[in-house]
Amino acid sequence: MSASTLQALVFNIRYKSKGIISIELRPASPQVLFPLAEAGAHLDLHLANGLVRSYSLTNPGAEQSYVIAVLHDPKSRGGSRFIHEQLRVGQFVEISAPRNHFRLDETAAQSVLVAGGIGITPIYAMLQRMRELAMPAELIYCARSREDAAYVRDLEALKLGYAQLSVHYHFDAEQGAPADLQKLLEGRFVETHFYCCGPASMMAAFEQACETLGAVHVHLERFAATAAQSPETEGYFVELKRSGKKIQVSAGSSLLDAMLHAGLKPDFSCREGVCGSCETKVLSGEVDHRDQILTKQEKAANKSMMICVSGCTAGSSLVLDA
Ligand code: FES
Repeated sequence: MSASTLQALVFNIRYKSKGIISIELRPASPQVLFPLAEAGAHLDLHLANGLVRSYSLTNPGAEQSYVIAVLHDPKSRGGSRFIHEQLRVGQFVEISAPRNHFRLDETAAQSVLVAGGIGITPIYAMLQRMRELAMPAELIYCARSREDAAYVRDLEALKLGYAQLSVHYHFDAEQGAPADLQKLLEGRFVETHFYCCGPASMMAAFEQACETLGAVHVHLERFAATAAQSPETEGYFVELKRSGKKIQVSAGSSLLDAMLHAGLKPDFSCREGVCGSCETKVLSGEVDHRDQILTKQEKAANKSMMICVSGCTAGSSLVLDA
């Protein structure tokens, strides 16, 4: 699905907590270094069962090793189940280079990071980077129960020598209800940066709270698509500048499929608008953005689009750098 995949060796698998393992990947050949990954970045695992899944890196800045964590999702469509049941130390796996749509603003004077369950992984990576920079950080770490919170020990270790970090734990089983995010997020000054990664219900509550509180700098990372989008009812025309092709996208089909059909080889992986691998530069035309990655401002700027889910607004046509 991409010309730019890398071969990785499954070097280590560790138990983290009930249903969660961490996996350390190293370059398949000692002569090769992995590209440096920023805090917040994720990569795709191309599994032997043909599925591709995205996971956040928990150890930013390492060239010889990428560490991810995987929750055995009871509603797994085959990705996490395969990893837990079939992936073993010593096997090789194809991975993408890291991509980052959840960038840390390293200049922020105040940052509040909200993690739910396995959503702690990119946030834990960010906190390591923030510790290096001695940035003040507030973490709100929520999980169903203390046993489900895989990174409590890592966070307690991180806190040592990181006085600017404050951590608020919220375990639903102990509190009797999910965290009241609006209450936990209020009272910050307007330039505060808010970050969130967690299950869909938490992301929705976080977005709602940020909107109510008038937060300006809001950063989200999703790994699952929200409700299915209604397919486009009208076809549209697309000019692909670099390849010199002109294609018609018919109603109900995706621009990605139309491009594949036309013989192009765009990168893609999730096909759900959550991984960012199919991001394509827009040269002109109005995009109907349907992805979960670009911020409101980025969508309004209309400079790029996720061709797996986004299309063209009615009556317009697109010119893409592809
Ligand atoms: S393929 Fe993942 S966002 Fe398009």
